[in-house]
Amino acid sequence: MQDDLKYLSGFGCEFSSEDERCPGSLPVGQNSPQKCPYGLYAEQLSGTAFTAPRAQNRRSWLYRIKPSVNHKPFQKLTEKGAAHLDYDWDAIEPTPNQLRWKPFDVPTRQSPEVDFVEGLHTICGAGDCRVRQGIAIHVYLCNASMKDKALYNADGDFLIVPQLGVLLITTEFGKIRCEPNEICVIQQGMRFSVTVLGPSRGYILEVFDNHFQLPELGPIGANGLANPRDFQTPVAWYEDKEVDYKIISKFQGKLFFCVQDHSPFDVVAWHGNYVPYKYDLGRFMVINSVSFDHCDPSIFTVLTCPSNKPGTAAADFVIFPPRWSVQEHTFRPPYYHRNCMSEFMGLIKGKYEAKEDGFQAGGASLHSIMTPHGPDTRCFEGASNSKLSPERIADGTQAFMFETSYSMACTKWSTKLCNKLDEDYYKCWEGLKKHFNLNDKS
Ligand SMILES: [Fe+2]
Repeated sequence: MQDDLKYLSGFGCEFSSEDERCPGSLPVGQNSPQKCPYGLYAEQLSGTAFTAPRAQNRRSWLYRIKPSVNHKPFQKLTEKGAAHLDYDWDAIEPTPNQLRWKPFDVPTRQSPEVDFVEGLHTICGAGDCRVRQGIAIHVYLCNASMKDKALYNADGDFLIVPQLGVLLITTEFGKIRCEPNEICVIQQGMRFSVTVLGPSRGYILEVFDNHFQLPELGPIGANGLANPRDFQTPVAWYEDKEVDYKIISKFQGKLFFCVQDHSPFDVVAWHGNYVPYKYDLGRFMVINSVSFDHCDPSIFTVLTCPSNKPGTAAADFVIFPPRWSVQEHTFRPPYYHRNCMSEFMGLIKGKYEAKEDGFQAGGASLHSIMTPHGPDTRCFEGASNSKLSPERIADGTQAFMFETSYSMACTKWSTKLCNKLDEDYYKCWEGLKKHFNLNDKS
């Protein structure tokens, strides 16, 4: 179905695209003509305030068969909703402990059908989507495709990180194929529907404050890290399908649905700079120390969502990709630290260098604000005594971090119901020995 997908390249660009079946469907020279070509309706989707500064301003114009307003009233989604989508940050007592989860269970091919929306499970989060400040971290655990059903998020943006299984995502802007080691960003308000080919699992970072942007490069210069040209946006694709179609709205952290008599994927042409996009993590250009010591992990930032505090992210998406490690006379694994930010980590594949045991693909860890963490005993002893020569690290591995300035609370599902919390996590540091010796200055 999606083997011949076409994409536009760039980040934050003013794109234009029309379905090749309708040449000339994009109005020329104006956004809202008295009559649009092919009898289409013009509709603007705003991603920032009308008055946002030009550099941040995001909006797109959609030329569609029916306008989005053509639907029956929304109602609360109760039957087969997302039972574990949860924004109640006060439901359980907070804990400053280090937390680690074993891989979350995925429904199998034999299990009852669970689609992407039904399979949303919230792990932790903070803030309030009503005042547009905060984040939430979810996993999706599903085995079935969304049928005549689309979701949009009124509260913020989804950064989706597949870990198991390919996602075929139909959006109002066109189709995206996103597989493990790629990410996809579906921004506030964009309708999308997810087709899966089997059991599927992945992570979602939801941000309320702002949209994701590329980090500044400063002295790095014009090139490096994630390059703008490697972000891919779908080309216009429409279906003229008259069926009862269910539109699910995530609004103020709750799900609602309405029915309309046509597919929402009826956008024949569009233009603008507010678009969904995907990125292949294999294209990340890695920068790190080539002499001694470490850069801070911010050097691995793929995308950042700024908070209102200068230089401080509401959330960063950071990866630890395959690379060379070459620092001399240096303890090369991540240093022990306590952070004024919260660090949620996931593993797409392979083994993370600081913890070869226990932290598994499809699982997660959370080191909250000022909670100490770092390499486990085995990693410390090995890296402190190994002969240092240039070496490849993290081959076949992709670990990532959602780092946020918010202090996150966990949900009832993540701490109790999922039954995946590793109660023995703290033990990985228990073996750290005292090496202090007053007579050894080496
Ligand atoms: Fe850390």
